[in-house]
Amino acid sequence: MHEPRQRILEPAHTRRFATIRDRIDPPELAVIVPTFNERPNLRELLERLVAALEGIAFEIIVVDDDSPDGSAALVREFAARDPRVRCLLRVGRRGLASACIEGMLATTAPFLAVIDADLQHDERLLPRMLDELRSGRADLVIASRYLESDRVPGWTGERRWLSRSGTALARALPRLRGLSDPLSGFFAISRTAFESTVRRLSGLGFKLLVDILLSAPAPLRTVELPYRFGLRRSGSSKLDARVAVEFVLLLLDKVLGGWVPPRFALFAAVGGLGVLVHLGVLSALREGLGFAFLEAHIAATIAAMTFNFALNNELTYRDRRLRGIAWLRGWMSFSLLCSLGAFANVGVAATLFAEDEPWLLAALAGILVGAVWNYAVTSLYTWGDRASR
Ligand code: GDD
Ligand code: MN
Repeated sequence: MHEPRQRILEPAHTRRFATIRDRIDPPELAVIVPTFNERPNLRELLERLVAALEGIAFEIIVVDDDSPDGSAALVREFAARDPRVRCLLRVGRRGLASACIEGMLATTAPFLAVIDADLQHDERLLPRMLDELRSGRADLVIASRYLESDRVPGWTGERRWLSRSGTALARALPRLRGLSDPLSGFFAISRTAFESTVRRLSGLGFKLLVDILLSAPAPLRTVELPYRFGLRRSGSSKLDARVAVEFVLLLLDKVLGGWVPPRFALFAAVGGLGVLVHLGVLSALREGLGFAFLEAHIAATIAAMTFNFALNNELTYRDRRLRGIAWLRGWMSFSLLCSLGAFANVGVAATLFAEDEPWLLAALAGILVGAVWNYAVTSLYTWGDRASR
């Protein structure tokens, strides 16, 4: 007599979803649009996208990092009228790559595309990009700025140089060699390929495409389609020196296989240059100016430490750069902490040497311990949350 509760509930439950699904096609393509202060471009962008995707079951996911200009509110106005448009709002977060990743994770569509909001990417290319994925010939389709011409109109010399050197640097890596535009921000990927990669992504900085290409467990089958990169209509580019540094960190992270923190690699490279500065100053003071060894050595140590601090501040920790009085305080804490590192270095080396280890091994072990110490404590105290900004 008594039907188990489960069996009564389940058919009704499925039926209710079925009726909703009958009215809205599940999306085949999700278009992810990262935004930060793009309000003046959004209306036109959304209208253009809807027009370009006519006949395709699509959804548009705008991922906004709480733009002060109220981009998200505008998208929600749109979304209230058209359920194919959604807004994913992230509060207290920044980052182009991570915004795109989260947008891509928020959809069921089998194909995913990423496009900038500033109308620089030609949305009319999207149906062809989708066709390439649908055909199964490619896992990844890149819209390339450089396939037909190598000039982008409206770019300043500096911007062109930045993009050129970034592309050249990326193409030094075997996986990116055959691509004309691995730095493109406009691409489409199958959900299967994305999911095989997502847990390995660094999610650092601007260059999600490079991240995906280098993180994929096996090389992705990639097709490039040409298009003409447009001029930014309104608002301003968020690409700056910090983005460039994050790009170098991303490449380092991938090249080092995720084993060595990329910031440590940069820090160690700066340290290597510091040794050269030390030797340079030492010999200049001694040979050139006739200083006594000890004085010359002390001056060289101070010079090298200052050089290391300044370069790490400009490069390794550009995103937390110290200025003014904080710079001075940072320099003092850096010098103090690195002096302790030097003690650790000498202590380890002396102990190993006394135990009959070869001198080179003893020296290298000392240097490594000192470098790890310097990196760990300065990241915490000189540039960490405790450092005043
Ligand atoms: N959510 C979010 N968070 N979006 C962001 C952020 C962020 O921190 N930073 C930038 N965006 C959005 C912008 O609003 C824009 O829609 C898009 O990402 C691209 O940003 P732009 O500031 O316009 O970058 P760009 O034109 O200088 O750089 C483009 O070209 C590069 C290659 O030269 C982008 O397509 C890059 O991805 C590309 O690598
Ligand atoms: Mn742009």
